[in-house]
Amino acid sequence: MASARVLQSFLSAVADEPATVAVHLVEPGGTRHALVAPIGTSVMRAAVAAGIDGIKADCGGVMTCATCHVYVDADWLARLPPPSDDEDAMLEMTAAPRLATSRLSCQLQLTPALDGLVATLPETQY
Ligand code: FES
Repeated sequence: MASARVLQSFLSAVADEPATVAVHLVEPGGTRHALVAPIGTSVMRAAVAAGIDGIKADCGGVMTCATCHVYVDADWLARLPPPSDDEDAMLEMTAAPRLATSRLSCQLQLTPALDGLVATLPETQY
């Protein structure tokens, strides 16, 4: 009986979790794209699936191209895990200037806590 209550509680908690989150990508000129993406996917994959031209993602997410560079809105930056050493090194290879808010969107995995994430696309990826 107790295990049934635990299971019901777990299922209720899972049901309350959203399956998708909103991501807002802003072009340098101000055009804003509102995407809806599955939890667990990367911001890069969400952008590519939505046909966002400002994300090139030439390497497909294996972190060898830096053409998925974004500037994460400062309000959201603290909610992200810090970049790995490999991401940090690859951020030195971006075509547009690296800023304190620069991240590789292929390394940003969407979680419920990132619902509403805002990032700006750089002027160029090449
Ligand atoms: Fe190539 Fe992110 S897609 S580094």
